[in-house]
Amino acid sequence: MEHIYISDIAAYEGQEVTLHGWVYNIRSIGKVWFMIFRDGTGMIQGVVVKSEVTPEIFELGSKLSQESSVTISGTVRQEKRSIGGYELGIKSIKVHQLATDYPITPKEHGTAFLMDHRHLWLRSKLQHAIIRVRHQVIKASRDFFDNNGFTLVDTPILTANACEGTSNLFNVDYFDTVAYLTQSGQLYSEASIGAHGKVYCFGPTFRAEKSKTRRHLTEFWMVEPEIAYCDLDENMDWAEKFISYVVGWCLEHCKTELEILERDTGMLEKVVPPFPRVTYDQAVQILKDNGVDFTYGDDFGGADETIISSQYDRPVMVHRWPAEAKAFYMKRDEKNPDLALGVDVLAPEGYGEIIGGGQREDDHDTLVERILHHDLPMKPFQWYLDLRKYGTVPHSGFGMGIERCVTWITGIKHIRETIPFPRTIYRLEP
Ligand code: 4AD
Ligand code: MG
Repeated sequence: MEHIYISDIAAYEGQEVTLHGWVYNIRSIGKVWFMIFRDGTGMIQGVVVKSEVTPEIFELGSKLSQESSVTISGTVRQEKRSIGGYELGIKSIKVHQLATDYPITPKEHGTAFLMDHRHLWLRSKLQHAIIRVRHQVIKASRDFFDNNGFTLVDTPILTANACEGTSNLFNVDYFDTVAYLTQSGQLYSEASIGAHGKVYCFGPTFRAEKSKTRRHLTEFWMVEPEIAYCDLDENMDWAEKFISYVVGWCLEHCKTELEILERDTGMLEKVVPPFPRVTYDQAVQILKDNGVDFTYGDDFGGADETIISSQYDRPVMVHRWPAEAKAFYMKRDEKNPDLALGVDVLAPEGYGEIIGGGQREDDHDTLVERILHHDLPMKPFQWYLDLRKYGTVPHSGFGMGIERCVTWITGIKHIRETIPFPRTIYRLEP
C-alpha cells in the first residue's frame, strides 16, 4: 500500500488513507474521542465515533498515551477548524507500542531536563520547526554555491594543521602521533581552488571552546566557499549575495515553521544586497559614540556586536581588522600593513557574527614569516606553502556557521537548539 504522509493529505480529500506515526494528544468527550496525530511531516486530528468503530477500537481512547506508535486508517475530510485544515474519520487503529510515562509533558520543563532528553525533545513542536529551518538553511547554502559554479570539494576532519589558532584544538590519538579535529576546511579549500577555481566545503568543525555562551558550540557545521582571483571586495559581494539568498529561501519555504516559532519576519525581509560595509576603525568609533569603553585592537564581544549591528537594518560587514587580532593566513592591507583584509558579517537584532573570512596571504615568504610569528610548527604547513610556489593567485573566502545562521533566522535565544545533538563544554550526551 502507498505510504501517505500528512504533508500531502490535501490530495486525498474524500478518500480513505492509512497514516503511520505517533499519538501527540488525546481528548475524549463521551461517545467521541479525538487524537492529535503526527507523522514527522505534520499533524492531523483523528476523530473516533463510538457508533462507527468496533468496541476494541473505541476503547483505545482511554488506553492510548502520548507518543504511542500507531497506524491509523480512515477518511480524509476538510475541516477548517482543525489543525492543518483536514481531519481523519478514523475507522481502524493498529497499535505498535504503547508508550508509558513519556517524560516530556505539556507542562514547562527546565532547559537542563529538556537537554538531557534531547533525543525525545526533538519531537516537540518548536524543536521540530527549528530543525526543519536548519534543513532549509543547509539546502539553500548548497543550492547557492551549486547554482553559482562552485564545486563541492570535501576537506578532512582529522588534520595536522591548526587553522584558527592553537588555543581551542581538540587532540586525537592518531597511532603514534597526535591529530587535531578540524577547526575549518579553509586551508584545504585553498588547495582545491588550484584545481577547481571556485569551491566550497561543508562539514562539521570543532573547537574546544571553554566559554559558556549562547553562541558557542564545540561541534558546529560550517559552509566555506573559497575563490581564486578574488579580492576582499568581491568576497564581500559573494557574502551578501549568499546570505540574502539563504534568508529569502527560508522566508519562502519555512513560512509554517517561522509562524510556529512566532518569528517576526519584518527584519528578515529587509535582508537584500547591498549590506553596509564599515571598517573596524569605523565600528570602534560607533562603540565610542555609544559610550563603550573599548580597547582598540581587541575583538568585539557579544555586547559590542549588538551595538554595532543595531545601527543598521540588515547585516553589516566589518572589514580591515588589526592584524594582530586575526589568523596567520590573512593578507595585509597594502595601504596599512597593520590591518588584515578580514571581514566579519554581523547579523542584525543582536545575533552577532555569522560569517568570518577575508583575503588570504598569497606570497610565499610573507606566509613563512607569519607562521613563525604565530609560533606555528613549519612542517605541517609545507603543503600549504607549496600552494604559494606553484601558481599562487590572489584569493579569498569565508565561512558561515550554520547554527549561528539558524539561531538568527528562527529568532531563538540559544544556539544549542539549532543542532539536533549539541556539544558544548558540559555536554557530550545524549
Ligand atoms: O570566524 P571563524 O573562526 O572563521 C574561520 O574559521 C575561517 N577559517 C572561515 C573561512 O574563511 N573559510 O568561523 C567562521 C564562522 C563564524 O562566523 C561563526 O558563524 C561560526 O563559524 N563559528 C561558530 N559557531 C558555533 N560555535 C562556535 N564555537 C563557532 N566558532 C565559529
Ligand atoms: Mg570569527
